[in-house]
Amino acid sequence: MQINVDGTLMNVGVLFSEIDIRERTKVIAQQINQDYGTKETLVVLIVLHGALIFGSDLVRNLEMPTEIETIRIKSYEGTSSTGNVTLVTPLPSSLDGKHVLVIEDIVDTGRSIDFLLKELQKTKALSVKICSLLDKPEAHEFPVKANYIGFTIQKNFVIGYGLDLNGKFRNLPYIANLTKA
Ligand code: HPA
Ligand code: MG
Repeated sequence: MQINVDGTLMNVGVLFSEIDIRERTKVIAQQINQDYGTKETLVVLIVLHGALIFGSDLVRNLEMPTEIETIRIKSYEGTSSTGNVTLVTPLPSSLDGKHVLVIEDIVDTGRSIDFLLKELQKTKALSVKICSLLDKPEAHEFPVKANYIGFTIQKNFVIGYGLDLNGKFRNLPYIANLTKA
């Protein structure tokens, strides 16, 4: 399939179908259910907007008492890799004494999640783990490792299932590579 992005024709190549994603999400949720058990409360901290769709599908497969929180962070990309990250919304105030599972769409350079982990270290959360739909190991610039990973991908730009290009294409039910036609 091809789409027109601001006047440039781009190829959309499906990488993971709706069914692939659904099945993988169930497997990850089973791992999380096993690791955390069903008794203690888990705070699921969804990083907006990218992890909105994955997070909302994942939580419906979790079996422990779950609290859903969201956070928005913003990366200001510089001319090089010296980007800056800030919190757009404050950290939820209810994390103290609770297990926190951060839900991300993608670990690309790792800058955002590195920043967020440092912010979370300032809280009194009992534990902090990361679950990322996608991981792009070849792009990592920060030594972060997600505890749960949906799919490991190559260093291509992807869209869909929450991931955007300039705010668009998050609604695609699949994950696709975007390349110049
Ligand atoms: N696609 C969309 N958003 C992203 C990506 C990507 O490949 N990497 C980091 N943010
Ligand atoms: Mg984005």
